[in-house]
Amino acid sequence: MKLFSRKLVDFIRATYGTNDYIPLHAPIFGSKEKEYVIDAIDSTFVSTVGSYVTAFEKSVARYTGSKFAIATVNGTSALHSALIASKVQLNDEVITQSLTFVATSNAIRYCGAHPIFVDVAKDTMGMSPTSLMQFLHDFAELRDDGLCWNKKTKRIIRACIPMHSLGHPAEVDKIQELCSLYNIKLIEDSAESLGSFYKGKHTGSYGESSIISFNGNKIITCGGGGMVLTNSATIDKKVRHITTTAKDTHSWVFSHSEIGYNYRLPNINAALGCAQMEKLDSYVKHKRLLAEKYRKWFLNDERTFMIEPNNSKSNYWFNAFYSKDKIERDYILEYTNNNGVMTRPFWTPMHNLPMYNACQKTKMDNTNWLYEHLVCIPSSVIK
Ligand SMILES: Cc1ncc(COP(=O)(O)O)c(C=O)c1O
Repeated sequence: MKLFSRKLVDFIRATYGTNDYIPLHAPIFGSKEKEYVIDAIDSTFVSTVGSYVTAFEKSVARYTGSKFAIATVNGTSALHSALIASKVQLNDEVITQSLTFVATSNAIRYCGAHPIFVDVAKDTMGMSPTSLMQFLHDFAELRDDGLCWNKKTKRIIRACIPMHSLGHPAEVDKIQELCSLYNIKLIEDSAESLGSFYKGKHTGSYGESSIISFNGNKIITCGGGGMVLTNSATIDKKVRHITTTAKDTHSWVFSHSEIGYNYRLPNINAALGCAQMEKLDSYVKHKRLLAEKYRKWFLNDERTFMIEPNNSKSNYWFNAFYSKDKIERDYILEYTNNNGVMTRPFWTPMHNLPMYNACQKTKMDNTNWLYEHLVCIPSSVIK
């Protein structure tokens, strides 16, 4: 493993053409970003009202093929708002995958609902339709009231959030079928998958709504930012309302019809987002070229490079490979990070975190296997 680690570091250094520190994912900014941000400053509209917010929403809606897009301060607030708009309430349950970033589960808890964790599929790293089907078969019951009840906990299973891991699309059409069979609302966590398509449709197009993150480590960034996407005018209206402190529309009266949130994206961040959107196609192209370089390099090694799943075109947000076991994984992580090349494992699965380890869950064979084997390697666009 020492030889492999050294060869990997050499290859990554040669690919990026530098002896400097190589991060996992760094943003790239050019003159357009500066121009638009300065323009936003000059306009004095730096907060949540301004032309860049609208332009950014329109641009993302056009790119993803969504009817509506609502810009928020980050992906987590987008998830929280999408759950509220799908009427997830206190003591409801929401099915998600254990192998996800903690924001997915946290947003469920922000609503006072309880996450249920199902396993992921090994080839997509996204929610496994088989694991979901097994869980629903064993525990879910669609009653005469039209709601899906959990026979074990006696709570309503209101929604399901699959996540497109590392940018690779999950088999979301199968998940959609199961959700509609049980009358469960589908919300896609597409935080990492802007620019990824499944069966010709952008990720996020299969749910009642979906969300994107524009955090600094994502394929494009606003510094911090998020978006809710939906084809439903009702969801759009609700998300716009609650993310703007639920303020009733009026020129000067400040009145609020429910508890809302200060979740709208500032214009200054949206300006950055508008400039970044102009580069998205080129970033996807360059990231796919980088992934192809990695794929070819791994052909000469016994370890497997993670390629895009069937029926999908991935943005390859994070490139990753499978080490032989956890001992090797830890050695590689230690060696590469000590030698100026940033790598990292998957997130600790949710069912192993203290605040979520008592939640209902299925068998976690693939989740545990992926957590123990996967290593993420530098994936920034090469300038
Ligand atoms: C899968 C997933 N969901 C949600 C989020 C939350 O997004 P943000 O960091 O913009 O709040 C992220 C990323 O950061 C993510 O990777």
